[in-house]
Amino acid sequence: MEQAKLILSGKEYDLPVIVGSEGEVGIDVTQLRNVSGAITFDPGYGNTGSCKSSITFIDGEKGILRYRGYPIEELASKSNFVEVSYLLIYGKLPTEDELTRFKYLLTHHSLIHEDMKKMFEGFPASAHPMGVLSAMVASLSAFYPGHENPEMKELNMIRLIAKLKTIAAFSYKKSLGQPYIYPRNDLSYVGDLLHMLFAVPSEKYEVNPVIEDAMDKLLILHADHEQNCSTSTVRLAGSSQANLFATISAGISALWGPWHGGANQEVIEMLDLIAKDNLDYKKYIELAKDKKSNFKLMGFGHRVYKNFDPRAQILKAACDNVLNELGVNDPLLEVAKNLERVALEDSYFIEKKLYPNVDFYSGIIYKALNIPVQMFTVMFAIGRLPGWLAQWKEMTDDPSLRIYRPRQIYTGATVRPYTDLKKR
Ligand code: CMC
Repeated sequence: MEQAKLILSGKEYDLPVIVGSEGEVGIDVTQLRNVSGAITFDPGYGNTGSCKSSITFIDGEKGILRYRGYPIEELASKSNFVEVSYLLIYGKLPTEDELTRFKYLLTHHSLIHEDMKKMFEGFPASAHPMGVLSAMVASLSAFYPGHENPEMKELNMIRLIAKLKTIAAFSYKKSLGQPYIYPRNDLSYVGDLLHMLFAVPSEKYEVNPVIEDAMDKLLILHADHEQNCSTSTVRLAGSSQANLFATISAGISALWGPWHGGANQEVIEMLDLIAKDNLDYKKYIELAKDKKSNFKLMGFGHRVYKNFDPRAQILKAACDNVLNELGVNDPLLEVAKNLERVALEDSYFIEKKLYPNVDFYSGIIYKALNIPVQMFTVMFAIGRLPGWLAQWKEMTDDPSLRIYRPRQIYTGATVRPYTDLKKR
């Protein structure tokens, strides 16, 4: 086996090297502290491999994203969200029988306990739906405690996928003050989500197949992204053996932030701002470059992708198609394209390899599908759920799992005596 050598204070240490199935190289430092007393230092974990995983492969330089070996481009054009969810969780594409069973289970677990409606009532109408989603998912643990055996684990994962769309739709209806719309078993997963979001009791709701297809594609593109912030949160929380619902609730909270999934909402707000400010692209590019401004070009940049984000490319192409098919003329699409062009001509963005990410064009499609801006990150969460579950399952099925517990380099005061209140 190949070894890496580390020389520290004149002493040499051999460190094992591990190589992934795509040739990715990692230096195994698990014993480093034991043998040398030193730890590795990597704030933000940019160079830290926290686990071995066989779920998702990304090559950020080449713009490659694959779930279980299948390229994202193929899955987005040929598969559907339910099949992709199965693929992520079980590691293989389902047979016809397996898919039928999976769909049946997702359909027949989509109701939430009637008592949960009382909890929705407790939130103010102005509550952000991500806060509601996170709280309601954690509260599922009160209704379905424990996951003592593999069957319970599987059932709770299925419950979560089935119920997340119901919770999401109820939180939206709550914000509108409209009656909740219950799930329908005759609709597809995505069709049912749309129906619960948009139907009203006084009218018959027909699912528009263009909207259904576009939403399905969006969910596939968001379904997993290896060890990103929310997925790492899920692994971290889950590594303590916390229950699944509390664990996923932690992931939802992490996703909400504007540097992560919350960026899709921020992108639309930023494009709106630029449109209202006489389309002064240069002003906002300069602002994004100015570190003192605290302004970033939302939907731009990525920790891993340094050439292009393949999801953003698929979405940019999908934007034109979806808007055309729906007959929507959204001036923000032009604003986004112009902003991208101006940014990509600027040396700051070229040198730092900052490109549009998945959140840059997704919001324009969500808007065309009539999804309200506050619900964008909720849609991301619904899409990301199978990825979180697959990663949680992979981790908790591993008998060698240890609790996630990073170390630190302490930089605070050294030991000092306590001073009495009057002497301070
Ligand atoms: N606008 C302006 N400057 C940027 C941006 C941006 N959007 N993104 C990165 N930079 C600069 C950054 O200031 C840094 O400059 P310097 O080298 O002078 O310190 C350099 O580019 C490298 O960036 P970084 O902050 O070290 O990169 P990171 O890997 O820590 O952060 C990121 C990645 C996605 C959090 C960041 O690019 C960002 O905040 N982007 C805007 C928010 C966004 O679109 N988030 C969605 C990410 S994709 C979907 C998801 O994961 O949810």
